[in-house]
Amino acid sequence: MARVTYISHDGKQKKTLDITPGTTIMQAAMLDGIDGIVAECGGSCMCATCHVYVQEDQLAKLPPIGPDEEAMLEGTVSPRQPNSRLSCQLTMTPEMDGLVVTMPEYQT
Ligand code: FES
Repeated sequence: MARVTYISHDGKQKKTLDITPGTTIMQAAMLDGIDGIVAECGGSCMCATCHVYVQEDQLAKLPPIGPDEEAMLEGTVSPRQPNSRLSCQLTMTPEMDGLVVTMPEYQT
């Protein structure tokens, strides 16, 4: 298992989940009912409503942004930041243990 902490956009809600490697950060959030991730397309990299901001000092733990994710990140409702990622494109690995993501204020 590997832990991910999800923080609401205003910092008031925080939840840490143990996620089985191979599961995406989006899937784990949806299964647990975490607010702030919508995932309209179900993880097909076609909606950008699973946008998260990754704690900046952890970006090196993540796989690089692929061309489809890059294109979708251009259309996020809340502003794209240097630490923006789509959570459906982040599949947990043991190396990602301790990851912290903050949801944007708006997804749609
Ligand atoms: S769930 Fe639609 S792009 Fe991630």
